[in-house]
Amino acid sequence: MPRVIAPSMLSADFGNLHRDCRMVNKSAAGWFHLDVMDGIFVPNISFGFPVCKAIAEVAEKPLDAHLMIVEPWRYIERFAALGVKYLSVHYEACNDRHLKECIRLIRENGMGVGVAINPETPAEVLIPYLRDIDYVVVMGVHPGYSGQKYIPETTEKVGVLAEMIAGAEADCFIQVDGGVSVSNIAELEQLGAGVFVAGSAAFSSDDPIAAIRALKEA
Ligand code: DX5
Ligand code: ZN
Repeated sequence: MPRVIAPSMLSADFGNLHRDCRMVNKSAAGWFHLDVMDGIFVPNISFGFPVCKAIAEVAEKPLDAHLMIVEPWRYIERFAALGVKYLSVHYEACNDRHLKECIRLIRENGMGVGVAINPETPAEVLIPYLRDIDYVVVMGVHPGYSGQKYIPETTEKVGVLAEMIAGAEADCFIQVDGGVSVSNIAELEQLGAGVFVAGSAAFSSDDPIAAIRALKEA
């Protein structure tokens, strides 16, 4: 797949949210990434439906919501109703029955199905699900905050996952979320990742349009 950059709106200026959404519309970004945190699954609370709705009103590119919340199955329909196109839930927030239920609900609601794994979760836990999902989210940092240092072991994990996906003959892409920058994106892509979430690498620049273009072309 052609490289997709998904700026994480958690790093946007919330006082100028629509301005930052229009910036993403104009940029080389492919998707909007929405980091939803509940303060329970992760130590931080980010934003919920009203903010996602405000983004959806202006966004001209697909919305990709990343649920870092407990009991994600309870909220799937509501994200679909907001117009979200890709929805990921965390493996660690579910038992097997819950994860299958999430996969079914996301699919039934017409969205792309993603499953995210934390840095300490081995890629192999996803083997039973690979043929039923559209993407895996490999966390490059501990979920909860943007601007953290990339965990280098993530790179090898992406390679392992790409081999697992090929071995399972699954039709599934890899998204890397956390710590993505111009210095690691090309190697991650070479190993098999296709979608790259960028929080600080996109928004902490004085010229985010140029920063997103740099990520797209690095
Ligand atoms: C982390 C979030 C990420 C994060 C990315 O919990 O899921 O999407 O905001 O931010 P950077 O790119 O700054 O690591
Ligand atoms: Zn995220």
